[in-house]
Amino acid sequence: MTRPPVVVRTRRELAIALVPVPRRAVVMTMGALHEGHLSLVREARSRADQVVVTIFVNPLQFAPTEDLERYPRDLEGDVALLAGAGADVVFAPTVDEVYRDEPVVRVDAGEVGSRLEGAHRPGHLDGVLTVVLKLLHLVRPQVALFGQKDAQQLMAVRRMVHDLDVPVEVVAVPTVRDPDGLALSSRNAYLDPSERQVALGLSRALRLAEQRARAGAGADEVRLAAAAELARTDRLVVDYVALIDPVLARDVAGDHRGAAVLAVAGRVGSTRLIDNVVLEIEETA
Ligand code: PAF
Repeated sequence: MTRPPVVVRTRRELAIALVPVPRRAVVMTMGALHEGHLSLVREARSRADQVVVTIFVNPLQFAPTEDLERYPRDLEGDVALLAGAGADVVFAPTVDEVYRDEPVVRVDAGEVGSRLEGAHRPGHLDGVLTVVLKLLHLVRPQVALFGQKDAQQLMAVRRMVHDLDVPVEVVAVPTVRDPDGLALSSRNAYLDPSERQVALGLSRALRLAEQRARAGAGADEVRLAAAAELARTDRLVVDYVALIDPVLARDVAGDHRGAAVLAVAGRVGSTRLIDNVVLEIEETA
């Protein structure tokens, strides 16, 4: 039997809803939930006694030109989905509740936030880390779960936790895809059917690169194969295709061996999408 989660809107209500348990998990979201978020919540459920889901569209991580205003919002629908996935508490604060004053001190994602997403969305990962740290302080979880889909965000959060000694275990959860390969994202809602076909170029490029890596191709060949596939995709404007190390998001060299993340970003019409795959590079071919 599923029990609807308790929905709280203020820090005070949240503090009351946090029961003393050995292990509390948090899943942070911006709402417009889909199966990818629900897989994070189910994983959280299997690891913790209390599961808190935060729903907050964080203005600090959007540039003035980005989609803050039109970002999809559906609290009622989200809460209904979360009831089935095992969330105990939903914390859905207002902007004023989270940022009582304009934040003067912010978290700087440093090198891990300056490349790729950071280069295309300056300040984005600083905004993400600032709200993640605030939510960690408010929820006080033992474990926090993040999707592999936002690979660079995951790296930045891991590094913040490491560098600032934040007492929380960070768990990565695999990307969930539609049967056609498109990685689930709240922004997929912006795509019309023909744009969706274009967007499939991203996952196609990743699959191709994965096949090359499995066949023993080296780092350069793997990256170039993905880049060529993306270049072939009409109406896809590629922001980047990069093969990076999984810790600091630095480009890996052509002679790299071992784990690497192939990260891609592109725009279809006015919608910007990102995707990635974790590969093992063992050049043998
Ligand atoms: O991945 C997201 O949805 C957001 O970046 C996060 C982690 C909830 C911070 O606002």
